[in-house]
Amino acid sequence: MKKSTALNAPFQPASFAFRDVTKVREIIARYPKGRDQSAIMPLLDLAQRQVGEDGLKSAKPYGGWIPRAAMDEVAKLCGVAPMKVYEVATFYSMYNLEPVGKYLLQFCTTTPCWLCNASGVLQAAEKHLGIHVGDTTDDGYFTIMEVECLGACSNAPMVQINDHYYEDLTPEKMVEILKSFRQDVIPPSGPQNGRKGSMSIAGPTSLMDQAKKAGVI
Ligand code: FES
Repeated sequence: MKKSTALNAPFQPASFAFRDVTKVREIIARYPKGRDQSAIMPLLDLAQRQVGEDGLKSAKPYGGWIPRAAMDEVAKLCGVAPMKVYEVATFYSMYNLEPVGKYLLQFCTTTPCWLCNASGVLQAAEKHLGIHVGDTTDDGYFTIMEVECLGACSNAPMVQINDHYYEDLTPEKMVEILKSFRQDVIPPSGPQNGRKGSMSIAGPTSLMDQAKKAGVI
């Protein structure tokens, strides 16, 4: 999905202010004096979560995204040119630059997931929701995005839904998960085929002592 750079679109609010100023101060204080720009990424995340909280209360719900006014506010707080913040926000797929659905589905379609039928899982979601990659359902509930590797390759194929990873998916399981989200019930995240973490489904095959110590066998 092509990342939006519509920073002057009509849906952009004229202004933005952080509600949790204590949190803003705490984030900036994490970094050495003169290195305030290190706070750009966590502040963008905070802005996205604040907009998402507002979205949950809206009649037609929407999820977290970062208005340009919020980027300008982050630039002011970090003492950098707004362009520095735009560069960061437009680069990373985790920052949404336009409104998204209440539940953002980020499908990994990089090689390991692709080889494990990521396309089948994605198509099942598209068919069930009646939308394609880059679209949002009319009720504002779901947006589908395609992203690069999310670091859960050993549990391929997988999808990230808001902050949750769903792994070892099948097309059928994907539809079940979506039905649950549609009822605002968050199903258990992690592997969906019964295995623990990224361990073989038949149990550990090495590091047996450590597995025993960890209580997994
Ligand atoms: S390839 Fe899909 S999580 Fe890495």
